[in-house]
Amino acid sequence: MCGIVGYTGLDAVEPILLQGLEKLEYRGYDSAGVGLLRGNSIEVTRASGKLSNLASKFENENSEPGTGIGHTRWATHGAPTSENAHPHQDPSGRVAIVHNGIVENWKELRAKFATGEFSSDTDSEVLAHMIAALLAQGESLVSAVRRTLNEAAGAFSLVILDSSQPDVLIAARKGNAGGLVVGLADDGTYVASDMSALLTYTRKFFFLEPGEIATLKPSSVTIYSEEGREVTRQPYQATHDLTEVGKGQYPHYMMKEIYEQSDVLVSSLQGRYNGLSNTIDLSTEFEGSAISKDRIQGITRCLLVGMGTSMHACMVGRHYLERFGGIPTEVDNAAEFRYRRPLLDSNTLVISVTQSGETVDTLAAMDEAKRADCLQITICNTPGAQSTRLADLSLLLGAGAEISVASTKTLLASIMALHAVSLFLGKARETLTSEIEAEQVVNALQLPSAVSTVLGNSEKLFEVARKYAASEHFLFLGRGLGYPVALEGALKLKEVSYIHAEGYSAGEMKHGPIALVNDAMPTVAVCTRGDVHEKMLSNVEQIKARGGRVISLVTDGDDSFDKLADDCITLPDVDPALGPIPSIVALQLLAYGIARERGLDIDQPRNLAKTVTVE
Ligand code: AGP
Repeated sequence: MCGIVGYTGLDAVEPILLQGLEKLEYRGYDSAGVGLLRGNSIEVTRASGKLSNLASKFENENSEPGTGIGHTRWATHGAPTSENAHPHQDPSGRVAIVHNGIVENWKELRAKFATGEFSSDTDSEVLAHMIAALLAQGESLVSAVRRTLNEAAGAFSLVILDSSQPDVLIAARKGNAGGLVVGLADDGTYVASDMSALLTYTRKFFFLEPGEIATLKPSSVTIYSEEGREVTRQPYQATHDLTEVGKGQYPHYMMKEIYEQSDVLVSSLQGRYNGLSNTIDLSTEFEGSAISKDRIQGITRCLLVGMGTSMHACMVGRHYLERFGGIPTEVDNAAEFRYRRPLLDSNTLVISVTQSGETVDTLAAMDEAKRADCLQITICNTPGAQSTRLADLSLLLGAGAEISVASTKTLLASIMALHAVSLFLGKARETLTSEIEAEQVVNALQLPSAVSTVLGNSEKLFEVARKYAASEHFLFLGRGLGYPVALEGALKLKEVSYIHAEGYSAGEMKHGPIALVNDAMPTVAVCTRGDVHEKMLSNVEQIKARGGRVISLVTDGDDSFDKLADDCITLPDVDPALGPIPSIVALQLLAYGIARERGLDIDQPRNLAKTVTVE
């Protein structure tokens, strides 16, 4: 979603802003803009569409040192036009702002603080009017921003330029809608939505917490708490590199990331699964965290929270936490969790799964858990992200940057992290036998090669994709561990191909969805080896009896669907507990293949954002 970059210092500002915005493109956006301080006025340049449209407006410009702000906008209020793109200014042009998040009471604020006509349909523009109005009343810039944060309802990040203070940038956060990170370097001071925009320039960072306001000058930063006190904080020293990710030989990032999954599994297993002793060990990761052995013994229940694909990882993880961890476990859609007044206590373990670590709903659920003093683990792919700062313990995925908006490799890594943590907790709570531990470790270590086999069979999946690419509706069915796989298959297909796809528990089918079945709505059925194999067989029979077409995912060596299904996709025989791994890879390839047949913008599907920072 929206991306923010700001700089004040001795280097040419406009290339820093444009390069920073380029690094934030992965978040998803539909227009972009920059505001530069030139003398005592602010020059705003904006463009709809891709960043290149904005960059082309600077082609013949001389870059100068100074102060500026940049923004990529993911439209919420108002169409993705250049008028609605940020920065927004007050009518006098004194103040310019870039904003990420939503101002919920923008209409009331417009009535109360308008300093003239509004030139956009956005909720954001009123913030520039408010700050300018308060400055005109003699308030200082920091206190004008503080009052603006107090009056504006919602959660957001904001960076502000005031033309009468050319060497100053103000950065502010309210709630948990998109982070802000301040970077310090010899040449100047930076601010951005996340570290990836700034790693080229510095490794020394301060994260702003909700409610905080920072004053950035070329050689200093001052942070104020919500109450207005100056905050002293040790800088965070980033140790990870900005991986320069390219597509390599692949036509799309999604394909590249699907094909990386065998390697991603190897890194997920390394250091946690010991193939010599056939044991699991996460003690170094747990060591020194609030989740001590005593606290582990006292856990009475576990809640898994996440959104979208990460929630599907949670649904797989629930099976592991109950079966191997011996802990009663529920899964919650993070966006619903906070609004249903959940009953929580300090013996509840909350595990959040979020590849970005910045998803607003997941962070809000974590805040709720924090208020109830729950133990918290976050499973995240982004070092330093907000979720890692909220949790007692972070299990980093180490899957490398995932650029495609559709998540693929981080799902597999999240599932393996949940598998590992379940085994570790079961062992620590003495509910897991060493035989089951050893069996799971041995079976998990076979997954990289199983995934290679699925990838090696991708032509078969692309053939099926070609056959069904014209269908406008799809049904995905699975049971047990196959249920979250079905949900994920449907989500992936609709995201990248814009085909209407429904994921259901196969047991639910007769309670309504079967009414949809006809030869124009193919069903993808997850029928791999496991407890529910026979049940899936009869569900497929029921679909065939009603004229439906079926694509079955089956385990190598199983011929029971040969005469029944229209197409069978054969997957390597893995332990049924780990069955989601090869099945998910197959469904990713199917979705990718169909989207490719349809000639769509696979890596940046319409309307979607990689990092969802608004509710
Ligand atoms: C996945 O393909 C989606 N783009 C989306 O559902 C995603 O998984 C969700 O927004 C959660 O993101 P997170 O893992 O960064 O929290």
